[in-house]
Amino acid sequence: MIEPDFLRTTRTGYDSVAVRYAELFADGLEDYPLDRAMLTAFAELVRADGGGPVADVGCGPGHVTALLRSLGLNASGIDLSTEMVALARKAHPDLRFEAGSMSALDVADGALGGLLARYSIIHTPPERLPELLAEFHRVLAPGGHLLLAFMAHDQPSAPAESFDHKVALAYRWSPDRVAELLQETGLVETARLLRAPKENERGFPQAHLLARRI
Ligand SMILES: C[S@@+](CC[C@H](N)C(=O)[O-])C[C@H]1O[C@@H](n2cnc3c(N)ncnc32)[C@H](O)[C@@H]1O
Repeated sequence: MIEPDFLRTTRTGYDSVAVRYAELFADGLEDYPLDRAMLTAFAELVRADGGGPVADVGCGPGHVTALLRSLGLNASGIDLSTEMVALARKAHPDLRFEAGSMSALDVADGALGGLLARYSIIHTPPERLPELLAEFHRVLAPGGHLLLAFMAHDQPSAPAESFDHKVALAYRWSPDRVAELLQETGLVETARLLRAPKENERGFPQAHLLARRI
């Protein structure tokens, strides 16, 4: 199958910045208490519903996958960038990381108790978001939990707005529109967090959407 251009440019972009990205972000989420609160809630919900396997898709250097494991989840990571996967394996040799695209997961239907996509949907062109969410729905078990994190914008008329990202073309999303798309896919919103940007977040509000497969 021919790989879409946006996947190729995203992969090569993250391959070339992987070491720098890990230096900047892989220390952990100490300065992001609200993000950690959503990740902790996600972990508790997955555990309460049986603790099935969890995929961290677009896991980057694997620090959040490791956090999920520390919260008691059977978590593994998937990333387009082989450089990111190599860094994740080196930093967390006890965890499983695979190279691959979240748009075609090598995971059986209904196999996951949870799926995290933290700032990884931002490079998916808006017209492709419905098929990506359908893939997330496919791999989640009924009752399974999805947590999305992304940069938000607040213009209800526009579902997405592109912005100049350092690595590859990226999009900010309307949380309401993403919630609508989730609903159309069979994933019902259970909670959301919209927090103010931190200094390094370019003035963009940051969204977390938690949803559950019906
Ligand atoms: C902004 S980084 C976020 C990394 C990590 N989730 C975090 O919270 O720090 C985006 C990551 O998503 C990955 N990514 C983007 N599109 C992807 C796709 N279609 N499939 C798998 N990984 C993807 C990139 O390679 C990159 O490592």
